[in-house]
Amino acid sequence: MKQKIPNTFALDVFANNVITVTSVDQLKQVWKNNPLNQPIMIIGEGSNTLFTCDFAGTVVVNRIRGVTITETDDEWHLRVGAGEIWHEVVAQSIQQNIPGLENLALIPGCVGSAPIQNIGAYGVEFQKVADYVELLELATGNIITVTDGQYGYRESIFKQKYSIGYAVIYVGIKLTKQWQPILTYGELRNFDANKVTAKVIFDKVCEIRRSKLPDPKVLGNGGSFFKNPVVDKKIADSLLEKYPNMPIYPQANNQIKLAAGWLIDQCGLKGYQIGGAAVHEQQALVLVNKNRATAQDVVELARYIHKTVLQKFSVNLSPEIRFIGRTDEIDVTHYL
Ligand code: FAD
Ligand code: EPU
Repeated sequence: MKQKIPNTFALDVFANNVITVTSVDQLKQVWKNNPLNQPIMIIGEGSNTLFTCDFAGTVVVNRIRGVTITETDDEWHLRVGAGEIWHEVVAQSIQQNIPGLENLALIPGCVGSAPIQNIGAYGVEFQKVADYVELLELATGNIITVTDGQYGYRESIFKQKYSIGYAVIYVGIKLTKQWQPILTYGELRNFDANKVTAKVIFDKVCEIRRSKLPDPKVLGNGGSFFKNPVVDKKIADSLLEKYPNMPIYPQANNQIKLAAGWLIDQCGLKGYQIGGAAVHEQQALVLVNKNRATAQDVVELARYIHKTVLQKFSVNLSPEIRFIGRTDEIDVTHYL
């Protein structure tokens, strides 16, 4: 009988098998015991994944656990099992007076997914604390340690060269003892950099997040559905002439990041609903499962948003969420 795939959108999607692994050996066994060569996909909490239909294979839920902390004169080094829950690791590090992860509090998902997506929030991205990523090469059982993740905005080598055929099994994090607070994000700017502690920032980030982002346990969602689009300065300037209040985030190389949530909001789409899927009232970049949505409802809503923003602003949104089809990741450019 088919088994339900864990996903924070709370969609009823199924796979032929759903297997939880707690060790590298178990992970290897899943590959060995796949005589029919069915597709296999590894997930953490399914908080960045949209299963557009049932998966015709095995979904492996990674729960390889364990946190080891060592230190030098200058740094703390955390070696974390890829199946640890990200927020628990952040909260425990703060509790143990190890600062550096506080801006990344309350991001759902597992530690193994953090380098893949180069998770980011409130002025910090995973790459700032990245030390190494240990991969299991599934065909050979070899373990590869990658120190250059080639990180970008929600991008990494783990989505490219090391995507198919590799599992993230451990993640190395390094945190400097010369801690400096990162207070670049709006509401964090009010803190005094000389007085604020990591715990205070941690608490504030949790408070901001709880006010804007729906708790997936209460209202199914996958966080930001689209990436914030990065455009040439010329394009941003012409939009600013028409919309002087538009938020902008200057990047390197004459590029400007726009706020996808603002663009969607300006199209009047907050609360807009297709089937059981809706645009979140507090944050237009988040699509929610309001009332027993199907994957098709979410896809149609995403398509409608994409089209509407393109028509109004000539800006092409691309999803942050990874779309999964019957056997594999889907190229969303054909989808929207
Ligand atoms: P999954 O959805 O389970 O997997 C994501 C992808 O990684 C899939 O393609 C999967 O196959 C692959 N994968 C997972 N584990 C492994 C592994 N061990 N080996 C190989 N491949 C693997 N993201 C941010 O960056 N910043 C935020 O502020 C943020 N806020 C969010 C708020 C909410 C309410 C929600 C629901 C999501 C938010 N996200 C945010 C997105 C999400 O939390 C992150 O992308 C997270 O890292 C996904 O973790 P996961 O374990 O659930 O990934
Ligand atoms: N905005 C609106 N209306 C909305 C939503 C946003 O006008 O409905 C405006 C805000 O007022 C603000 C700007 O758009 O001026 C940006 O909004 P916000 O600060 O809420 O952040 P975001 O750009 O929507 C990004 C990340 C989040 C991350 C936050 C905080 C992406 C795709 N999303 O969201 O990450 O938590 O910044 O740093 O980069 C995720 O990746 O899933 C995620 C939640």
